[in-house]
Amino acid sequence: MSKDRVVVVTGAAGGIGLGIAQRFARDGHPTAMLDVQKDLLEREADALRSAGGKVMTAQVDVSDRSAIDAAYERVREEFGPITIVVPNAGIAPIVPFQEMTLAQWQQVMDINLTGVFHTIQAAVNDMVVAKWGRVVSISSHAGQSGGMYMSHYSAAKGGVISLTKGLARELAAHGTTVNTIAPSVCETPQMHRAIEAGQFPLDAVLPMIPISRAGTPDEIASACAFLASEEAAYITGQVLAVNGGMYM
Ligand SMILES: NC(=O)c1ccc[n+]([C@@H]2O[C@H](COP(=O)([O-])OP(=O)(O)OC[C@H]3O[C@@H](n4cnc5c(N)ncnc54)[C@H](O)[C@@H]3O)[C@@H](O)[C@H]2O)c1
Repeated sequence: MSKDRVVVVTGAAGGIGLGIAQRFARDGHPTAMLDVQKDLLEREADALRSAGGKVMTAQVDVSDRSAIDAAYERVREEFGPITIVVPNAGIAPIVPFQEMTLAQWQQVMDINLTGVFHTIQAAVNDMVVAKWGRVVSISSHAGQSGGMYMSHYSAAKGGVISLTKGLARELAAHGTTVNTIAPSVCETPQMHRAIEAGQFPLDAVLPMIPISRAGTPDEIASACAFLASEEAAYITGQVLAVNGGMYM
């Protein structure tokens, strides 16, 4: 893949998003790292710069379109048109459906689904003009088979999968592919927070994973780098489950 493709990764301060940003930066792409956590973002970006990566940061809440638009303007000024976007930022609260408030439902929709819409739509004209683009979102196993006490999350991630398919049809004529990666269990701060809160019994889940371990951000990043590459030009509208076989 041409090394001057400009990449945006959201939720890039930690976990899967950081793994993906590290991979693109290592591969030589100018990479914009967006996240709400400013200090962590700066620390990780500094580490990448020290290793020779061309990275920039923006403190952005993906549910805030004007913040995304402003960040993208800076990215275009510093790096050029954005032709690879990785909407990854997401939250995963555990709430039984009967107790779920409208505010809790709405927050998950705003970040996990509308945030994906903003992240892609704000860049799509760059891809159309370039006649080349790659969208690789991070959805979830929960969007395929449902997540217990995560009906809002499951609905949002199912929405990301459907958005992927609809948009893939629309952008194919513009040389742009749209795919989504669906992890099941991946070693990230989110996973560790859930274990510590007693909300995620990893030991009980491992027997359900044929490759009986959690995945790593690097393994998600490998799939992402492939889907963003020239080699994946004939793959669009797909859900790539990088999950050790947990959902087939
Ligand atoms: N870890 C897993 O097992 C797993 C499984 C399936 C899907 N996923 C999905 O993968 C993605 C990354 O998950 P993770 O496990 O790395 O999570 P994480 O919580 O470890 O990291 C998520 C990052 O997103 C950032 N973020 C959260 N809300 C944001 C917002 N509104 N705007 C910008 N940034 C925001 C956080 O600050 C954090 O740096 C999420 O979409 C998640 O739903 C994770």
